[in-house]
Amino acid sequence: GIPKFVKIVEVGPRDGLQNEKNIVPTNVKIELIHRLASSGLSVIEATSFVSPKWVPQLADAKDVMQAVKNLGGVRLPVLTPNLKGFEAAIAAGAREVAVFASASESFSKSNINCNIEESLARYRAVTLAAKELSIPVRGYVSCVVGCPVEGPISPSKVAYVAKELYDMGCFEISLGDTIGVGTPGTVVPMLLAVMDVVPVEKLAVHFHDTYGQSLPNILVSLQMGISAVDSSVSGLGGCPYAKGASGNVATEDVVYMLNGLGVKTNVDLGKLMSAGDFIGKHLSRPSGSKTAVAFCRV
Ligand code: HMG
Ligand code: MG
Repeated sequence: GIPKFVKIVEVGPRDGLQNEKNIVPTNVKIELIHRLASSGLSVIEATSFVSPKWVPQLADAKDVMQAVKNLGGVRLPVLTPNLKGFEAAIAAGAREVAVFASASESFSKSNINCNIEESLARYRAVTLAAKELSIPVRGYVSCVVGCPVEGPISPSKVAYVAKELYDMGCFEISLGDTIGVGTPGTVVPMLLAVMDVVPVEKLAVHFHDTYGQSLPNILVSLQMGISAVDSSVSGLGGCPYAKGASGNVATEDVVYMLNGLGVKTNVDLGKLMSAGDFIGKHLSRPSGSKTAVAFCRV
């Protein structure tokens, strides 16, 4: 059977916006986070404390975090690539962080400018510092089925990186199909390999929708016992360091499917769609959510 409740991790304000060319005003980011929170989402990735040279869109991380840090009833994790980012995040009021490794050496180099082992060493330092402050750390593994440079990635490599992150104390490991090339045919063997070394209740899935495979991939993940799903309002998103990567699976579409399956999420689809409307109007872009488009037409 599939889980009765699924935790949705909304990554729109971070993964959704990080690839936007035009700088989104800080107040728009803050209002987006407020609207997402009011839809009932319990986890919203708010921003990244990364180098502003690498991701100019999120250079206002401190201002965003300071403005939303006291929002009640919602967890607001932020990405931290190193101790410098971790310290800045904590100073701005973050209470939860995420580190992001890759199962592909090439992608590690192009995304965070170091190899996998070096990244794991950095993340051990971050998790150690976080432990002292009782800050929960989420761990991402990118390129879990394919890499823009190396092509297919072996499940054993993904399992290795996932276990390293788990062993250093990450409370949850999010498995990212960064470029959205996976199908149930490649996702299932990858999940089986990871579930051999990390308990399934500690896993989350993170799909980008390049080939329209996210929903089937999520469904097989649920059937395998995973109950945490990352998604982005309106299907915004993409990684600036992953050529050809499209947006994340749309949160509206995930909620619509889960509603149909009778799986609880505590998310109000109407309020979620109006948050999607808000950011879509600001970006002058039609929604990337088929559900949102369908509801507009009926
Ligand atoms: P680097 O250039 O190797 O860094 O970047 P460095 O340590 O050599 O330092 C160079 C400069 O950056 C220095 O400043 C540092 O102070 C500064 P300078 O002396 O030149 O003025 N610096 C920082 N500034 C602010 N915040 C920091 C920070 N660290 C150093 N934290 C670094 C290495 C990791 C910093 C860089 O490569 C970086 O920021 N990368 C982030 C890229 C990124 O955000 N990618 C997107 C997120 S990952 C993703 O989307 C995938 C995911 O969604 C899952 C999936 O889809 O699979 C999570
Ligand atoms: Mg992503």
